[in-house]
Amino acid sequence: MEKKITVLPGDGIGPEVIAAAVRVLKVIGKRYNHDFQLGYAAIGGAAIDQFHNPLPEKTIEMCKESDAILLGAVGGPKWDNNPAELRPEKGLLTIRKTFDLFANLRPVKAFPSLLNASPLKREVAENVDLMIVRELTGGIYFGEKHRTEEEATDLNIYSRHEIERIVDKAFELAKLRKGRLCSVDKANVLETSRLWRQIVEEKKEQYPDVTVEHNLVDSVAMKLITNPGHYDVVVTDNMFGDILSDESSVITGSLGVLPSASIRSDHFGLYEPVHGSAPEIAGEGTANPAAAILSVAMMLRYSFGMTVEAEEIEKAVNDVFNDGYYTADLVKNNEHFLTTDEWTDKVIAKIDSNFVID
Ligand code: NAD
Ligand code: IPM
Ligand code: MN
Repeated sequence: MEKKITVLPGDGIGPEVIAAAVRVLKVIGKRYNHDFQLGYAAIGGAAIDQFHNPLPEKTIEMCKESDAILLGAVGGPKWDNNPAELRPEKGLLTIRKTFDLFANLRPVKAFPSLLNASPLKREVAENVDLMIVRELTGGIYFGEKHRTEEEATDLNIYSRHEIERIVDKAFELAKLRKGRLCSVDKANVLETSRLWRQIVEEKKEQYPDVTVEHNLVDSVAMKLITNPGHYDVVVTDNMFGDILSDESSVITGSLGVLPSASIRSDHFGLYEPVHGSAPEIAGEGTANPAAAILSVAMMLRYSFGMTVEAEEIEKAVNDVFNDGYYTADLVKNNEHFLTTDEWTDKVIAKIDSNFVID
């Protein structure tokens, strides 16, 4: 198959983990005879430095002509005091909105060999396999903003249409998984949450195979780490989903292993790690590339329908952990760890080893 992919490395560890992910993508292309055509473009701080714009028109044009986008991360202290329009994060928010990527899928799966890296007890973290479905193009992130020296506001606004489409997506996913949906809101306080809850209640009639529960976000923040095994699909708004997904990384042992897909109703999508640009370790070559590599797997699955290839990557990552190879974020003091490139070499060797004919 021929596919065009726009690659946006971004800032901090973004370029490092994306270089690793692209190596894996190329190996899959070679092994399965796919023609992956990669084009690179600027976003975030890197784009501000070069073009004085966190999402240049040229980047948008390239993305429009491609089948999927692979993104590293944006942001860093260099741009933290910039005005809102010239912040790296603005580039990320604008690309999500421009392409209407309303459904952010953030799977949280415990790798058996990483259970020691999690601060949670083994019996709590093991077998966890949940999916956070985060609304990505609405809510308080995109409502009107005002700021004076004395006052600031961010409007939290959701339309029925915006809620319906993300809730439908979550029900569809739950149907294909274990059939359990947990909708997370703050309906005891927020009007947006009360509309959200009402719509989930209306929708559930259409999905008789799915069992639904509603939970308040403060309570779920606690239950997600005390009893994560309870959850299958968790659907929530933009802000709550952001917070709960970083929290869930504790279950797996590191934020460095969580991938994500930002999709809409056709096959186009943007794929990026859940983590950020981790400025304090940027340039060291120690970042964990697993989240970026697993984001490539999500791209193959959701945008290109390449299930076998996606599973090949996921299995290789799991096997490398099982062989006892870890990056720095997953080891305790002074234990041996591999660099970003060394760990990626192991993943590639695993994939290659499946193709050796004797
Ligand atoms: P972060 O996710 O960058 O880092 C949080 C912690 O996790 C740090 O200790 C970091 O070292 C560690 N970490 C993250 N990814 C890792 C990896 N792959 N390997 C090893 N360790 C890893 O969050 P932050 O420090 O709050 O934010 C830094 C910058 O990133 C900010 O400018 C923020 O706006 C931006 N950010 C961007 C995105 C994105 O582009 N999608 C996401 C989150 C944060
Ligand atoms: C994420 C990030 C972004 C978000 C920031 C960098 C705008 O934290 O992708 O989780 O809040 O959505
Ligand atoms: Mn986040």
